[in-house]
Amino acid sequence: MSKEFDILVIGGGPGGYVAAIRAAQLGFKVACCESNPYADPKGEPRLGGTCLNVGCIPSKALLHTSHLFAEATHAFAGQGIEIGAPKIDIAKMLARKNGIVEQLTGGIKGLFKKNKVTFLPGHGAFVARTDKGWKLGVGSEEVEAGQVIVATGSRARHLPNVQIDNKIVCDNVGALDIDAVPGKLAIIGAGVIGLEMGSVWQRLGAEVTLLEAAPGFLPAADVDIAKEALKIFTKQGLAIHTGVNIGEIKTGQNDVSIAWQDKDGKDLRLDADRLIVSVGRIPNTEGLNAAAVGLELTERGQIDVDEHCKTHLPGVWAIGDVVRGPMLAHKAMEEAVMVAEIIAGQAGHANLDLIPGVIYTTPEIAWVGKTEQELKAAGIAYKTGKVPFLANGRALGIGAPEGFVKMLADAGTDRILGIHIIGAGASDLIAEATVALEFAGASEDLARICHAHPTLSEVLHESALACDKRALHF
Ligand code: FAD
Ligand code: NAI
Repeated sequence: MSKEFDILVIGGGPGGYVAAIRAAQLGFKVACCESNPYADPKGEPRLGGTCLNVGCIPSKALLHTSHLFAEATHAFAGQGIEIGAPKIDIAKMLARKNGIVEQLTGGIKGLFKKNKVTFLPGHGAFVARTDKGWKLGVGSEEVEAGQVIVATGSRARHLPNVQIDNKIVCDNVGALDIDAVPGKLAIIGAGVIGLEMGSVWQRLGAEVTLLEAAPGFLPAADVDIAKEALKIFTKQGLAIHTGVNIGEIKTGQNDVSIAWQDKDGKDLRLDADRLIVSVGRIPNTEGLNAAAVGLELTERGQIDVDEHCKTHLPGVWAIGDVVRGPMLAHKAMEEAVMVAEIIAGQAGHANLDLIPGVIYTTPEIAWVGKTEQELKAAGIAYKTGKVPFLANGRALGIGAPEGFVKMLADAGTDRILGIHIIGAGASDLIAEATVALEFAGASEDLARICHAHPTLSEVLHESALACDKRALHF
């Protein structure tokens, strides 16, 4: 006999587990299935998806440890702290990271129990449409559900003819488990993963080279931020080459050799101890039996949805990395709540125009809203308030004077159109920026709000004042 639920969520990542919890809070009988290979101590697949297992959380744990190491190496002496040269115990660093992953992924199972979500270990796939909704298979079990939320996420895109063994040549999975500081680390793709993982190993002593195909650096970021970031990262020691063409990659027992052409067409070779391939991600749609039930995909292989994450099939929704929009955990969670609330007859919404982006390098980079190049392309007249962290007492006090806040506001109405930050604490400062944009705030609104002193948030405040050419401390 098949198990019956109001809603079956396929995939237990940030999209899936949040959708399941919110739907259960709203009174539905909910199940969530998950089939990843990351087993918990009971041998069941862990919840949390890419984000908790091999993405956001483990990468941030390694970024923190390596940041502390870099501070101890380069910054302590300048503040009068003498400790000699610090040593890194990589096994301990990885064990700490794994402990955080175990704690958080186990925590979601606890949340499922608390919210009465049924966890179904196993791969979920559509079988057929029924009178009441959908029949699906989960592992060897048959499940019937009135509504289905597909939250199957994404996986690393690999390069043709490049075997990922996650030892010498790694995607994000192996990159988070490198067990010794490589002498030389090569990274293909200078996007978010490349910069974050490159920073981790550069701080710990690796010689890191990033090979990027795009002609420019961080093209999605505001042009000034990208320029400043390139300057700072290069000064830190990351060798970043843009406009490259990757040729043949030969993997040995303990090393890897990459043939590449620089932007001028010169043939070069990079020999390294490890290679990380971080060239974007592809949506997980295989194995869903999508075509058989008529679930439509876009040209890019994502599940086709409307602005409410509704697919073309009745009672079938899709959220997170498997659909259009930025591949970010908080975007997946927004869509998860929206869909659960819409199913419950509420007015759920997710504003894809105001999804903040963060890169957790040092300094951090964060933004929300439009970039200067987007405003120019759209012919929108704007004014700019740009203020450096160097002018902020707290930034100097914590030894983080690099970077700036750049606010873009409509030249006519003063409405804030975009806020771009490179500097310490950017990942937290962007929350205030996002609130301002969501509330359709003007630069004057932020300028007239009292910001605590001395805090990094004062740079955001000053950038609002600077939009009206009345910055007080710069
Ligand atoms: P996923 O997290 O990919 O979860 C989907 C789940 O569905 C997986 O567990 C998968 O096993 C399961 N699944 C797939 N098919 C089936 C099936 N048929 N049956 C059962 N289960 C199935 N985002 C941020 O916002 N901030 C960050 O700092 C950040 N850092 C990242 C660092 C790295 C190294 C990587 C790789 C990603 C990072 N991301 C970050 C992106 C973030 O991880 C994703 O955007 C997010 O996990 C997407 O959530 P999701 O629920 O859509 O998919
Ligand atoms: P990405 O899209 O950020 O960067 C991939 C880079 O690889 C691009 O710059 C692209 O031009 C380049 N590239 C593509 N093909 C190439 C080739 N053949 N040779 C050389 N370069 C090539 O993707 P990435 O870094 O793999 O990360 C995947 C996604 O995961 C991100 O887009 C983001 O959504 C998410 N993520 C988010 C993080 C965060 O929020 N802090 C951290 C890490 C990942």
